[in-house]
Amino acid sequence: PQREVILPPGLQRRVDVFLGEYLSRKPRSMSRSSSNGSIATDEGLFEQSEALPQSKAAMKKILWEKSMKMQTEQQTWQESPEGRKMLEFRSSLPAYKEKDAILSSISQNQVVIISGETGCGKTTQIPQFILESDIESVRGDMCSIICTQPRRISVMAVSERVAAERGEVLGETVGYKVRLEGVKGRDTHLLFCTTGILLRRLLVDRNLKGITHVIVDEIHERGMNEDFLLIVLKDLLPRRPELRLILMSATLDAELFSSYFNGAPLVHIPGFTYPVRTHFLENILEMSGYRLTLDNQIDDYGQERVWKMNKQAPRKRKSQIASAVEDTLRAADFQEFSPGTQESLSCWNPDCIGFNLIEYILCHICENERSGAVLVFMTGWDDISSLKDKLQCHPILGNTSRVLLLACHGSMASTEQRLIFDKPEDGVRKIVLATNIAETSITIDDVVFVIDCGKAKETSYDALNNTPRLLPSWISKVSARQRRGRAGRVQPGECYHLYPRCVYDAFADYQLPEILRTPLQSLCLQIKSLKLGSISEFLSRALQSPELLAVQNAIEYLKIIGALDESENLTVLGCYLTMLPMEPKLGKMLILGAILNCLDPILTIVAGLSVRDPFLTPLDKKDLAEAAKAHFSRDFSDHLALVRAYEGWRDAERDLAGYEYCWKNFLSAQSMKAIDSLRREFYSLLNETGLVDSNITIYNSWSYDEHLLRAIICYGLYPGICSVLHNEKSFSLKTMEDGQVLLHSNSVNSRDSRIPYPWLVFNEKIKVNSVFLRDSTAISDSVLLLFGGTISKGEVDGHLKMLGGYLEFFMSPSIAEMYRSLRRELDELIHTK
Ligand code: CDP
Ligand code: MG
Repeated sequence: PQREVILPPGLQRRVDVFLGEYLSRKPRSMSRSSSNGSIATDEGLFEQSEALPQSKAAMKKILWEKSMKMQTEQQTWQESPEGRKMLEFRSSLPAYKEKDAILSSISQNQVVIISGETGCGKTTQIPQFILESDIESVRGDMCSIICTQPRRISVMAVSERVAAERGEVLGETVGYKVRLEGVKGRDTHLLFCTTGILLRRLLVDRNLKGITHVIVDEIHERGMNEDFLLIVLKDLLPRRPELRLILMSATLDAELFSSYFNGAPLVHIPGFTYPVRTHFLENILEMSGYRLTLDNQIDDYGQERVWKMNKQAPRKRKSQIASAVEDTLRAADFQEFSPGTQESLSCWNPDCIGFNLIEYILCHICENERSGAVLVFMTGWDDISSLKDKLQCHPILGNTSRVLLLACHGSMASTEQRLIFDKPEDGVRKIVLATNIAETSITIDDVVFVIDCGKAKETSYDALNNTPRLLPSWISKVSARQRRGRAGRVQPGECYHLYPRCVYDAFADYQLPEILRTPLQSLCLQIKSLKLGSISEFLSRALQSPELLAVQNAIEYLKIIGALDESENLTVLGCYLTMLPMEPKLGKMLILGAILNCLDPILTIVAGLSVRDPFLTPLDKKDLAEAAKAHFSRDFSDHLALVRAYEGWRDAERDLAGYEYCWKNFLSAQSMKAIDSLRREFYSLLNETGLVDSNITIYNSWSYDEHLLRAIICYGLYPGICSVLHNEKSFSLKTMEDGQVLLHSNSVNSRDSRIPYPWLVFNEKIKVNSVFLRDSTAISDSVLLLFGGTISKGEVDGHLKMLGGYLEFFMSPSIAEMYRSLRRELDELIHTK
């Protein structure tokens, strides 16, 4: 049987124009790439000093004069009243007492590991010690210190603080650099940056020329970037014998790092914290006359356990606390909790993370407790802003003359940031709602009360690095202890854990390092772009190596999507993907969206895949919510439904009716706002890669071509495809790996009994009992043929075979030939642009 396959009109037209344009002119050059295909990053981390003088003696003189000048300036500052106060504060920090031990260890060893309680002064003091000792003893060469932080926000907060401690503004001796932003000057000798920035620097400067000290902070967090950086630095050390590497960590797991660096010495800064009284959920309930009991033995995890609340509690107090607790229990799903089954927690509903209980405790503190700030650990910034909205309407907590309510998360503005550290006026209680960023990297001094929800989103340094829809998961014992410790910094404190003691007992001791728990695709691309040789060989040298199978899967995936060629070399597409710090599939969509000039909707889709599902389905209004979503979908695509929903919101927001619009359409206003700001961020990233410039209109000239959008979605989501097989009444779905699969009930495609397309591409599948597909988009044969699979010269035929001989079977030879040539041309375009 011959099946007629015709290119959808829009796509046909576009492909013609596009190939015509391409063939008739040279491809637009990549503004930032060098000719050999590798990517140039921004200029050096430190400003080049003025042209070097001729003789050694003259150079020495200049440096001497410079360091004398710096010394005198510091002296003048330290003798001023503020300077004296600052110095007094600095010398009260535990790190100050270890200054000599630290400096002598650094001068005698190439690698030193420093550990100490959070807040003891590691981040702010140790780089300064090195700087000051260097200025005092001019060796004829000034030091250049780089100190990395896992998150942008700590880079900015810390650099500003250090500059202030030195009586300077940023950009003098102290500078910072994060993606798209930074301040540094000619005299900058201490630069704070994100780990990602240093990794990007290594792309163009493998030996870190001119840098004398590298400080890697917060290594206990075991982020992917940090683990990766350590392998690279370990290789670099023998090539740069005078380079000093200093690793800093909060909790002590230091032996692991020491043995990784051939027995590097450890320096521990002894700290002091005040005792913290701990309340677990059962104690919190007791405070209000309730008792929480567990029916079965706690250690018997296999058995079904039932939580019971003591029903004899006084009646009038029941309403508030009972509903709060019921909320928490429902939200936390304690019944399903057991150490081996973390997956079962994925049904956790983050929209009711015991907000009522937090509100209750906050009220209790404000009404009955002594003064002192409250720090609330939440899962992510979306929860933080929901809770903040809720509390602002509360009669006591929303009273701004008594309560200063602040948020602290990775993506907040720096003005808001400063407020967190300030002491509020007398009689005003500071309440800070924070993510786990306040666990170790940011210290808020006046905290006396801590509320810990027990969860965190894993891999949450950078919204751009995240896999889409991160699920909150239980924290480790170390994190819980760390959170509790935040309450005892200035006086004895109190910590309220919103979970029972036995749940705490079941927490893992440490969190698994990121490299062992997340997909390795982006990391593999980075290894390649740094030209570090074989991926699996390189990763086998990590502090803790990921499983070989996980590495192979990642490499295989990168080959399938065309980022690596058969011999594991980066393709041009792969080079571009390394410049976009996000999942490769999202990066691919952005790149093609830019090339095919329909960027606006693609920005929305990619941003939408990076935040929590904006379509809400309240359990009691499921039908209404689904109908509202169906209203946005005319074309068998959850992704296109999102584009419409967002565009509707954007219009409504212009008339200040965004909230109303969301409310009517069962959309999350926070997700919409998050999409809005991510879109801007993604655009500037694309701008950085040279794929787009500031003239956005031309990149949108084809934005409303629905076929083209399907094509780009397919290009990104491949190999996430399944075939649609129709029978009399409905259809069934099959993927190659899983056989029969089902659609998630939220998908617009699950509501139709016919999908007039032969394929679906999907973003994510979830295995519960069967395999369920989340967001999907229906696509035609031609789109799959042209945009699915590896688009590379030799691959066309192989790809067709992968589709089960589909082409040979259904299509006439002439159409087949047309596809082959179109694909070849497309391939050339995408790979040479
Ligand atoms: O890195 P570590 O956790 O050891 O401490 P740090 O970040 O160097 O902070 C040391 C002390 O400096 C903290 O206890 C705060 O009192 C103070 N600090 C501050 O007041 N403002 C900042 N932005 C950072 C630190
Ligand atoms: Mg620190």
